[in-house]
Amino acid sequence: MKRLSVAILLLSILISNGAALRKKEPLYRNPDAPIEKRVEDLLSRMTLKEKVYQTWQSYVGLNSNPNNAGVILDTIPLEIGSLIYLEPGPELRNSIQEKVMKESRLGIPVLFAYDAIHGYRTIYQIPLGQACSWNTDLAEKVSRVSAMESRMSGVDLVFSPMIDVARDGRWGRISEGYGECPYVNSRFCIAAVRGYQGESLADHSSVAACMKHYVGYGMSEAGRDYTSSDISDQSLWETYLPPYEAGVKAGAAAVMSGFNTLNGIPASADKGTIEGILKSRWGFNGFVVSDWCSVKQIVNQGVAETEKEAVRLAINGGVDMDMGDNLNMEHLEELIKEGSVSEKRLDEAVRRILRVKFKLGLFENPYIDVTAPEKRYLLPAHVAAAEQMADESMVLLKNEGGLLPFDRSRIRRLALVGPLCKDNVNLLGNWSAFGTASDVTTIYKAVADEFGEDVEIIYARGCGLDGNDESGFQEAFEAAMKADAVICCLGEDRMWSGENASRSTIALPEIQSRFLAKMASSGRPVILIISNGRPLDLSCMADNADAIIEMWQPGIAGGKPVAGILSGRVNPSGRLSVTFPYCTGQIPIYYCRRNSARRGSQGLYQDMTSEPMYRFGHGLSFSVFEYGDIRISDNVITADMKIKAEVTVTNVSDTDGKEAVLWYVTDPFCSIARPVRELRFFEKKMIRAGESETFVFEIDPLMDLGYVDRNGNRFIETGDYHISAGGRTITVKVVERL
Ligand code: GLC
Repeated sequence: MKRLSVAILLLSILISNGAALRKKEPLYRNPDAPIEKRVEDLLSRMTLKEKVYQTWQSYVGLNSNPNNAGVILDTIPLEIGSLIYLEPGPELRNSIQEKVMKESRLGIPVLFAYDAIHGYRTIYQIPLGQACSWNTDLAEKVSRVSAMESRMSGVDLVFSPMIDVARDGRWGRISEGYGECPYVNSRFCIAAVRGYQGESLADHSSVAACMKHYVGYGMSEAGRDYTSSDISDQSLWETYLPPYEAGVKAGAAAVMSGFNTLNGIPASADKGTIEGILKSRWGFNGFVVSDWCSVKQIVNQGVAETEKEAVRLAINGGVDMDMGDNLNMEHLEELIKEGSVSEKRLDEAVRRILRVKFKLGLFENPYIDVTAPEKRYLLPAHVAAAEQMADESMVLLKNEGGLLPFDRSRIRRLALVGPLCKDNVNLLGNWSAFGTASDVTTIYKAVADEFGEDVEIIYARGCGLDGNDESGFQEAFEAAMKADAVICCLGEDRMWSGENASRSTIALPEIQSRFLAKMASSGRPVILIISNGRPLDLSCMADNADAIIEMWQPGIAGGKPVAGILSGRVNPSGRLSVTFPYCTGQIPIYYCRRNSARRGSQGLYQDMTSEPMYRFGHGLSFSVFEYGDIRISDNVITADMKIKAEVTVTNVSDTDGKEAVLWYVTDPFCSIARPVRELRFFEKKMIRAGESETFVFEIDPLMDLGYVDRNGNRFIETGDYHISAGGRTITVKVVERL
């Protein structure tokens, strides 16, 4: 008994000491305290200099991005808020973090960020291609892979997803987003944010998501980069803002402001969109980081006469953290002291940054366990996810006479020709992080593996991606003459898209169309495989190919899905997330355009068709899907009634296949002229041969039938609304009262 009472006494002393100790520990160090209280406690302890340094993002490691000229820090300040982390492993991060945690006055951990756009080391399909999968579950899955590889390599935040709606293929960055549709960008943004952030940011398999580039960057004039975007309020609200609103609702931790001017206002100093919409109207409580030197560039844009003025405009415009130009560190303290920037505004910026750091658990776990690269990269599950995304994102654009899949009994010899046949680098795409060319399966190897010994492969490169050297044409032609079919692998260098990669034409270099014509002159069936980061003008090529496979830039899966489509192992299920114009001159051309004042043949081009080469949503399958009539739960409704539209799709072929059902809404008469149709829902399912699946579109009339005005106010008017899927349509009437 006596021993027990002594033990109880000792225990109570320990507990009270622990509490006492804890009392001595500042609140912000208490992991059990609410984050908001920890933020306020820490903020209250910070000096002006410490606050200013939290808003500073520089970088550490080898900067291989030619577009981001920067000044490398010779010493890393202990109080710096964030570093772009360009090292492929957590060791350097941990050593920097340890110095910060042990030697700085308050021990505020650094937030490390990186551009893992479509993978860290397990590189998967570029976002424009991902959207062609119409499989957001899969997009979430691959984002999860990237999150794990990134966090385990020392990265806390990725500068992704990029959700800039883009309708101009001359703009190289169209490859980085999810295409021309605001709804598609919204859905894939949600998937990416969920994949990156997982259940908890503190989990070392999660990273903070940073949506970019806010806002309107995708409307860069004439497809040039870093330039102006002139967007009406109506278009801003109906097209460019929705993906960001979706991402805020999904809990994205950060947003990056863009390089563009929006209607003359630098996006990185635009108080109306950043403070007014993002933070106030939508309640975004993460932080806004500028793009690389986009604060400094306000001077180039002719809006700030000095860099100090640029800093003032940016932070007062709502940008909380300044990337890459070190200007906050140089000017912000002075701006505060002279009253040009209030300390209240600075506190708000620091509050937002600290909030994300607390959510990431950086104070409790500032270091990342060091694991062997083979334990963190290219794990079987990671590779499988990348390969599944590649399978589902490739689009069969043309398949004349059902050439594909090959009739194996008639294929003894294949000619594999073209500059991308044995290429692995360009199949990684732009922004390929620590992706490694040797990880990529070339088309050549994939086809050789797929068809094995019983098919002879004759290879000839034929030509380069550009230039005028036709000396290889004849060898390739002779290969074609010996073969039963010709696989011609053409497309883009991966650096032809991405940042600072605008092109005046979306046609491939002429040598490629000349080479394809030469192959076609063999009279053998020609299958054109294209790997590219933008919609292409294929008008000079399509007639010289019996089949065309758009593979985009698939990452490590490389040519495997292509080989699978040739053999029939993969049934293509991709559909275009961006329109393929007939030529550059048609740009902009996209599915959700408004009606013309003259229907029919008036107002069209006089010198060529006004129709695209391949429409948004186009994609062929080896299966044959028949759509039944659309059924609706109620066809006369008031705006507050939720209804359901259903369609049963039957696979009438003998080949199992996945089908993405795209649900469109048309409001033929509205006080604001609406697009001829708007995608409002999509869902993809496997439908076994001979079987049927029912697809349901649950409709919230205000969100799914209604519209938004130039002030961002959503509304719905009475009248008929047409709901369509698979070429079937049903009409719903919205009335004042039943
Ligand atoms: C670049 C890009 C942006 C990227 C950032 C950091 O210039 O515009 O997308 O995340 O700088 O590398």
